[in-house]
Amino acid sequence: MAESARRVRVRDLQEKKQRGERIAMLTVYDATMARLLDRAGIDAVLVGDSLGMVIEGHDSTLPVTLDAILHHTQAVTRGARHALVVADMPFLTYQLTATETLHNAGRLIQQGGAAAVKLEGGRAVADVVARLVDAGVPVMGHLGLLPQHVHQLSGYRMQAKTEFEAGQLIEDAKALEEAGAFSVVLESIPAEVAKTVTRELQIPTIGIGAGPFCDGQILVSYDAFGLNDESVPPFVRQYANLAELMVEAAKEYAQDVRCGRFPLLDRHARSSPGNGSGK
Ligand code: KIV
Repeated sequence: MAESARRVRVRDLQEKKQRGERIAMLTVYDATMARLLDRAGIDAVLVGDSLGMVIEGHDSTLPVTLDAILHHTQAVTRGARHALVVADMPFLTYQLTATETLHNAGRLIQQGGAAAVKLEGGRAVADVVARLVDAGVPVMGHLGLLPQHVHQLSGYRMQAKTEFEAGQLIEDAKALEEAGAFSVVLESIPAEVAKTVTRELQIPTIGIGAGPFCDGQILVSYDAFGLNDESVPPFVRQYANLAELMVEAAKEYAQDVRCGRFPLLDRHARSSPGNGSGK
């Protein structure tokens, strides 16, 4: 069976690390883009709480609710047939009682259709990770710049810059692996620290702003495709400028409507009724 024809599993990512193959991951928030990323053969997608910024227009991930992540996860899992779908656990939805945390993660798996959840933190959440994994919920960790800790960190800045902080991060990464996490995101840390973590762990590391030595990379799709052209982090490479294309297309459409070039009578007569989205 061709690789793109079957669903990527947690174990596939681990085997990729063992074979030295890099993992390509992107964030996604809707069914249409999930289908397109499947066509591109992206290995895994994250329904990130970055949706608070790029979809909901907030200036941080903190206002994102579990219901919002669930809603977008349901859309993504309707579209993605190939990629492993990971759903982010929003701010303060996993630091609760064990029962509440399991209930929240369970909703993303049972109702959302995600194959795994992601949560932020190291040793502080290792017991949470272990409980979820024991209950059958695969967990992706997230270390380095933790956007849900933006107030505590006093902004979005590179982490683990001192030897002490780097040592702490390596301990956190080991604790996550020990607790059963299947992978860990490393965000905004020096490349050499990411290299050490990647070497020390058996599970794959997924970098964002963490240099080239991780086992895989993730970007916020709206940044990578140039849909979000406001406050893009400096480490992002823009693979397209969809914002510009959309603005130009919308201008052309508006001009056509205003001067009567769209719709044309002959096409209208031939087209079947519907809303234009294939329904
Ligand atoms: O929410 C998100 O998009 C993320 C990625 C930046 C890793 O956590």
